[in-house]
Amino acid sequence: MNEPKVFSIPLTDVAPLPQKSIDNAKIVLASGQLFRYGETRADGQFVAQLETAFAAYHDKKYAICVNSGGGAITLALRCAGVSSEDTVLLNAFTLAPVPGSLANIGCSIELVEITENLIVDLEHLASQIKTHRPKAFLLSHMRGHFGNMEEVALLCRENDVLLIEDCAHTLGARWNGQLLGTFGIAGCFSLQTYKQINAGEGGVIITDDDHLAAKAVLMSGSYELHQQQGCIPPIDLLNQYSPTTPNFSMRLNELSAAVALPQLENLEERNAIWRTVYDTIESELRGVSCLLLPSHPHAVELAPTSIQFIVKKPREQIKKFIANSAQRGVTVKWFGASSPKGFTSVHHHWKYIEPQSLESTNQTLSGLCDLRLPSTLTFDDCRLLCNILIEELEALGG
Ligand SMILES: Cc1ncc(COP(=O)(O)O)c(C=O)c1O
Repeated sequence: MNEPKVFSIPLTDVAPLPQKSIDNAKIVLASGQLFRYGETRADGQFVAQLETAFAAYHDKKYAICVNSGGGAITLALRCAGVSSEDTVLLNAFTLAPVPGSLANIGCSIELVEITENLIVDLEHLASQIKTHRPKAFLLSHMRGHFGNMEEVALLCRENDVLLIEDCAHTLGARWNGQLLGTFGIAGCFSLQTYKQINAGEGGVIITDDDHLAAKAVLMSGSYELHQQQGCIPPIDLLNQYSPTTPNFSMRLNELSAAVALPQLENLEERNAIWRTVYDTIESELRGVSCLLLPSHPHAVELAPTSIQFIVKKPREQIKKFIANSAQRGVTVKWFGASSPKGFTSVHHHWKYIEPQSLESTNQTLSGLCDLRLPSTLTFDDCRLLCNILIEELEALGG
C-alpha cells in the first residue's frame, strides 16, 4: 500500500523580503538612526516616507505610523473621542488585540453577530445600535472578510455612530473599487509579520479628520517634532491639543518603516499572488459536501493571507480531522476549541468582557477552521494540501 502523502511546507512560512527592504534596512543600520525623530533635524526618513506613501495609496489626508495594529486601533478610538463613558459595538469574530484595544480605553463593549460568511450581521448591527446607542462601531475585517461597506457606512452615519475599520487583514482589499479603511472616520492597519506588509511589528492609522490626526500624532509621542511627520496636521490644532494630550510613546521605528516601504510599493502584485493561492485552494475545497466556505458578493476584492472553512461535523470528529491533518503536515487552526491556541481566541474566552449570548456566531465559530496561506505556495502545493484535507475528511466517514 502507498504511504499517505505528507505536506512538508510549514504554513507559517513567509516570503523573503524584497531586496529593496534589505537595502533600506542596511542604510538604517549603517547610520545608527533607528529613532524616527531627530532632535535638531529630521535624521530619520523612512517612517515619514511610509506615512506619505500610505496616505497617498489610500487617497487620505493623513497616515500616522504607530507601534502595532492594536496600538493603531486604541489611538484611533481615543483620538476620535471614545472614552470609558462610552459604549462601542464590535463584530464578534475578531482577534484578541481588538477587544483588547477597547479594554484599554475602558469603554463598554457590545458584540454584534456575524453570519456564516464571517461578516457582520447587518440586522443585528441595526438592532444593537438602537438598543445601546453606541459612540462607535469598531468593524474588524477579521481574516479579510467583509460585506456591503456602503450599507455599513450609511447605517453608522444615519445613527451618528463613528465607524472605525480594523484592516489588519484587508490592506489593499476593495469594496466596489473603494479601498477598505476609507469608509469611516479612520482605518487601522497592522504591519506584523503575517500581514500583507511584514515589518515584524507596526501599525498605521489613516484618516481625513484634522482633529483625529493632530491628537494621534501627539499621543503617538511626537515630542513637538511634528514637522517631521509624513502628513502634518494643521499647526494651530497641534498647538491647541498639545498641552492636554498625553504622550503614550507608541511610535514606529525607522528600521520597521524601512522594511515596510518597498512592500507598499509592490502591494498590488503580492496581493494578486495571494489571491491566486486563495482561489486555487477555494476551488478545490468548495465542492466538498461537509465544508462550508464563505462566499462573497461580486463587489468584494479580497486581499487574502489565509483561508477559512466551516466543517459541518461533530466536535470530536473535527478534533480528529485536525490531529490527523497535522500528522500529515497540514496545520489547521480551529475557532471552536474550548481554550484558545495561538491566534484562535473567541469572545467567550475573553473573561474581561460581559458574557454575551450570540447564538448564530457561536454556531459558526464551533466548526470554523483556519489555514494560513504563504504566498510562496505553488499550484501543486495547493493541490497536495487540499488532497490531504479532503482525504482526512473522507476518512471520518459519515
Ligand atoms: C484582526 C486583527 N486585528 C488587529 C490585530 C492587531 O495587530 P497587531 O498584532 O499588529 O497589534 C490583529 C493581529 O494579528 C488581527 O488579527
